Order: sequence, then structure tokens, then C-alpha cells
Amino acid sequence: MAKIIDGKAFAEGLRARIAKAVAELKTNHNLTPGLAVVLVGEDPASKVYVANKAKQTVEVGMNSWEHKLPADTSEADLLALVKRLNDDSSVHGILVQMPVPKHIDSAKVLNTIDPAKDVDGFHVVNVGRLSTGQEALTACTPVGSVMLAKHALGSLEGLEAVVIGRSNIVGKPVAQLLLAENCTVTIAHSRSKDLTSIVRRADLVIAAVGRPEMVKGDWLKPGACVIDVGINRIERDGKNKLVGDCDFASCEKVAGSITPVPGGVGPMTIACLLSNTVKAACAIKGIETPEM
Ligand code: GUN
Repeated sequence: MAKIIDGKAFAEGLRARIAKAVAELKTNHNLTPGLAVVLVGEDPASKVYVANKAKQTVEVGMNSWEHKLPADTSEADLLALVKRLNDDSSVHGILVQMPVPKHIDSAKVLNTIDPAKDVDGFHVVNVGRLSTGQEALTACTPVGSVMLAKHALGSLEGLEAVVIGRSNIVGKPVAQLLLAENCTVTIAHSRSKDLTSIVRRADLVIAAVGRPEMVKGDWLKPGACVIDVGINRIERDGKNKLVGDCDFASCEKVAGSITPVPGGVGPMTIACLLSNTVKAACAIKGIETPEM
């Protein structure tokens, strides 16, 4: 049976190190990193995420601002808020929760955020920096996923990694991070032919497709490390349940290590967001980032 990779415990440890770094910055540099989160509309899942982000930001000792705007907010008003946050020197990180309502151009919003404050790592400048091997603020779920893979496997050097999913939020940036770790990287997606045989050759599988329990145990190479990024709500036996993109019951019998859902990658995302906010604050102030 696979070793279960405990993302909840790993994220708790990371948050404790972040809290220590924040305390050091306050004492030694009179700097309190601050994160502003913007939510447009009433999406219930987004509301929960945003509330969790604010709670954990405060818990590690940072400043937190929540800007909740109605669903009919105009694009111009949202862009104006982003520009005010860009100009506010107490704000070091800006996150606009995705998805935004359909009448708003999300790329325009993301690219209006000052790249130095882009703690989501979604601005084209940060995406470009990541893909050319330059220092960048990097998307949180991909960073958290690779941290867990390294925690389970040690070095990723030379491994066959298969990423399932090609989103801008997870698939593409996680592939870049794995390349930087010297993996041989394949990005598979919904149009890939013979997905099972692609997955079969992977030492490391990153599943980020958003399809409940799609990856089955018999797709896996025995001993593979499985990082399941999916968070899908399904109904089973009359109950609401959270499941990943991997069928945990069959995968844990074949994999060498696997992240559970919930309690795997999920908790890492906010921890990495907090860490990005500390990094952004230090870079803006020209201070070396403390160890985290
Ligand atoms: N919606 C789902 N995941 C994310 C994320 O990582 N950042 C933002 N801004 N929105 C999201």
C-alpha cells in the first residue's frame, strides 16, 4: 500500500516557519507583510477559499484586507481597485479570486496587478520569468504540489513526470517547475490519445484535470508517486463528498506514495500564498527573504 503524503501536516509546518519569518521581519525591519484579496460576486466555494486565506494570513502575523465586490461590478471599477492596491505601499500581495463574473476579462485584470505584488504568479511577466528560468513569483498550487513530490521522493532529477491537465493555474506552471527539477515532462490533457499508456510510464503523476476519480490504479506504474490536485464535489450514498482526480481506493494499492483529498495539495496552496506574500514584501523592500 502507498505511503500517504500528509499535506495538512506539511502545510502546518510551513505556516509555522512563515510565522517565524514574519516575526523576524517585524522585529528587524519594522516590516509587516500584507495581503489584499479581492472577491467579485457570491460564488460559495470562492467565499470559503477567501475566508480561509484571510484567517491564515492573520494567523501568521501578516496584515489582511478583504475587498468584496458585488457580482455586477464593472471591469473598470475592478481595475481601478487593483490600481489603488498597486499604489498602496502597505499592500505587498494582491490576489483577485478566480473565476470572476463573465462580463470581466480575467486576463486584463491579472495583467493589471503589479508583477511585484502578483502573489498568484498569474501575470504574464511572472509566467514568462518562470518559463525562462528567472526569479519569479510562482503559482501556489504548482509550488505546493512540487514540494510534496520532493518530500515523498527526495530529488526529482531524471524522473518521468506526467502532468494531466494544461490549465494556466496548474498544468502549465507545474510542468515548468518539474522541468526546472530536471524531470522529463509530458503534459497530457483531455485530447491526448491513449492517456493510460502515457500515465503508465510516469514515476510521478500530477493529476489536475478536474474530473472526479478519473485516474485508476491500473493506469499507474507500480511504485509511482501520485500528486492529486483535483478537488471535486460528488454525491455518493446520498452524501456530499470531496474526491480528487484519482480513484484513491485503487491508486493507493499500486502507487508508492499518494496525496489524499482532502488533506493533500489543498492545504499547501494557501501556505504557498503566504510564503509568496513574504517573498514579495521582502523583494519590494530590498530585504533578503528569511528562511521558510
Ligand atoms: N481560484 C482557484 N484557484 C485559485 C488560485 O490559486 N488563485 C486565484 N486567484 N483564484 C483561484
